Amino acid sequence: MTAPADPTALAPAADLEVVRATVQDADGIAQLINFWAAQGQMLPRTLGETYENLRDFFVVREGGRVVGCGALHIVWADMAELKSLAVEESAHSRGIGAAITRACVEEGRALGLDSLFALTYRPGFFERLGWRQADVMTLPRKVWNECYRCPKFPGCDEIALVIDLKTPAGA
Ligand SMILES: CC(C)(COP(=O)(O)OP(=O)(O)OC[C@H]1O[C@@H](n2cnc3c(N)ncnc32)[C@H](O)[C@@H]1OP(=O)(O)O)[C@@H](O)C(=O)NCCC(=O)NCCS
Repeated sequence: MTAPADPTALAPAADLEVVRATVQDADGIAQLINFWAAQGQMLPRTLGETYENLRDFFVVREGGRVVGCGALHIVWADMAELKSLAVEESAHSRGIGAAITRACVEEGRALGLDSLFALTYRPGFFERLGWRQADVMTLPRKVWNECYRCPKFPGCDEIALVIDLKTPAGA
């Protein structure tokens, strides 16, 4: 059973601002994602895919440079995926990842979605924000759309996390 979300956990630094991505951020987003993709931590993104999905993205910038990004991608009437969450190595452990995750959760609520899911090798990070592990096979088939182009398919070893947006407990 997952521990209840601690609202003070992963508190972001006061000066940290999560904003919507603009076209000027696309290069930085793709570089950040592909840095971690090269280490097997996430799926790669071409620059073209980044532009096509740019309106899904939130970023954190420092000195005009993207140091963190994450996207909320709607897959169906009741569900969206939090994807491409990445923070520059030198900016880790300052609450940037948590702040971007929270921005996606807030947007999911504003959109009227029932739940969000994420596929990750960092389940603990999400659990501390109130997400819970789920059997990936229980997620709707729509979720698997992108998996077919993953080099690891069908041997996925990522862990599925979900958060219910209809209950006040969801952080
Ligand atoms: C997962 C990832 C996005 C987290 O980003 P981050 O900005 O470091 O995340 P946060 O700073 O919010 O939290 C990370 C840790 O820092 C700690 N932390 C957060 N704020 C802190 C602060 N102000 N002071 C000290 N530590 C802090 C948290 O306790 C957390 O600990 P945990 O690793 O045990 O969960 C980042 O590690 C990353 O880019 N990883 C590679 C890509 C990846 O795995 N993405 C997820 C795929 S969905």
